[in-house]
Amino acid sequence: MIADHTHVQTGQIRTDFVQFTNQSGLKLAACVDHIGDLRTRPWVLIAPKYGETKKGNLPLAYHLAANGLNVLRFDHTNHVGESEGETIDFALPGAVADITACLDYLTDTHDVKEVIMVANSLSARCALRAAANDPRISKFISVAGVVNLFATMREIYQEDFFSQYQQGRRFGVTNFLGLEVQGDAFLESAIAAQLHDLAGTLADIRKLRVPFICFFAERDAWVRRDEVEQAIAVNDGARLVVVSAALHEVRENPRAAEQLFREIIWSCLYDEPCPAAGSDRLRQPEKRSVLEENRRERERMRCSEMPAESETDFWSGYLKKYTILERSSDYQEYLALLARYCRPVPSGAVVLDAGCGNGLFGHWMLHEAAQSKSSAPPTEPLVYVGLDLTQRGLTDAMTKHLEVRRPTARNVPPGVQYSMIDFDLLENGSLTGQLPFADGTFDLICCSLVLSYLKRPEALLRELYRVLKPGGTFVTSSMKPHCDFSVIYRDSLTQQVTPSEIEAGRDLLRAAGKIKLKEEVGRYAFFSPTELSGLVIEAGFNLRETQQSLGDQAVVVKAVK
Ligand SMILES: C[S@@+](CC[C@H](N)C(=O)[O-])C[C@H]1O[C@@H](n2cnc3c(N)ncnc32)[C@H](O)[C@@H]1O
Repeated sequence: MIADHTHVQTGQIRTDFVQFTNQSGLKLAACVDHIGDLRTRPWVLIAPKYGETKKGNLPLAYHLAANGLNVLRFDHTNHVGESEGETIDFALPGAVADITACLDYLTDTHDVKEVIMVANSLSARCALRAAANDPRISKFISVAGVVNLFATMREIYQEDFFSQYQQGRRFGVTNFLGLEVQGDAFLESAIAAQLHDLAGTLADIRKLRVPFICFFAERDAWVRRDEVEQAIAVNDGARLVVVSAALHEVRENPRAAEQLFREIIWSCLYDEPCPAAGSDRLRQPEKRSVLEENRRERERMRCSEMPAESETDFWSGYLKKYTILERSSDYQEYLALLARYCRPVPSGAVVLDAGCGNGLFGHWMLHEAAQSKSSAPPTEPLVYVGLDLTQRGLTDAMTKHLEVRRPTARNVPPGVQYSMIDFDLLENGSLTGQLPFADGTFDLICCSLVLSYLKRPEALLRELYRVLKPGGTFVTSSMKPHCDFSVIYRDSLTQQVTPSEIEAGRDLLRAAGKIKLKEEVGRYAFFSPTELSGLVIEAGFNLRETQQSLGDQAVVVKAVK
């Protein structure tokens, strides 16, 4: 299939919001991205990733529209986003039925006879089922598609959920990758529909009568390459494309994401692999139009329901599990980078740890201060101010610090004075919108992995600038947009772990799912190196260094006043 993509004005891409119902009578919310010619241009249907909404597919959709394709992207029912139903009732056969509902909508409304299907991760498993059975799907493109859910879940949870269910164990409401679902119904329906194992996938792939392009992320922690190769081997029309250096969440790596976009667009337009110079012929949407539409959809979603849990409750629960990260070499390396950026901690320094959490960083920092003691004995005590939303974090942080101070502990920092403050940084906690400190109070401020969770990070940065002494050091960090938590999770469980640590790791992953969800609806915002540096500079700081860390999933910035 070749689209007429030569006359597309990328600035003319429009998005229409549409609604229709599935067979169960639940309303689906969807977006049609196009340049106005809905009758003659080919159609692409993009399913949302598990735990995400149609907004996550906006950049890809605009790239496709810029190249002359019409796109329908939708939210699953009983899932996150604007479609009807409760997330607790989500099950894979329902996700397959939603794809059929989208195809019906396109047939009924636009008389569409052929649709290219694109889907990612677990959604790709459902889309494969639809492609195997519905002749309207004329090509199937899978991105980091799960081919063996049984194995993927075992990989993630270190436990065989499906086998245990088949042996009679019941799970009730279970958190599955960040979403609470009816665990037994989820497992039962997946097994009954043979959507859970490799055999079911192979059977569907054998049935496919259309081109099948399978993008495999080279460093995928959840999907095994040998199983993907096995799957590809059963269909002559299947083609495997390895996206180099990509994790399961391909978007965390901008270069890999760029390669992927190029290849997907090409695969939608032509029935052949993308040649080396092929990308020159592809068009890019205007960045501004993607950003504007993203903002529009985020605003609309903000109005839709979110979990009622307060931020304080969320972070209290999160911090309880956070210590499992201490095991991860990626996290150790991250703390070492923070410590290096904070050095030297001058004698008698007044230090602010804004959003200190359970004190992992503060602990390190004091350790560092103690280490430097040998070369230059401090004359004055260090003053450490930890500030956080949660009482739980502050209590844990204090316990940690007291352990460090034990006379028997190695590297005892001399006479540290502590102050732990329960404070909401969201609106800078006070009526005046100011931090409760005088101008130029601190020699060193660290704000590690906090800015992303605030409504107005730029306002906090201005305040932190105000309370830092001239010449003082400021260190801050953020997870990257679309970061892949699987790397860090896997890293923390690679060594010998106890069952309770495995459980803590799972809880952490669940919380990570919630964080992603909040990123999706625009409550949280992760920053790229350029964005974070830009925010820091805008607040008045002089940028010194920027580096990626935490398994390449976070960006750390050092600046001075
Ligand atoms: C990912 S943790 C990082 C903790 C710590 N800085 C570290 O790097 O280990 C995010 C921290 O931000 C805190 N936080 C989130 N929103 C906050 C707010 N509005 N005011 C104060 N702290 C907040 C949470 O309680 C949590 O401790």
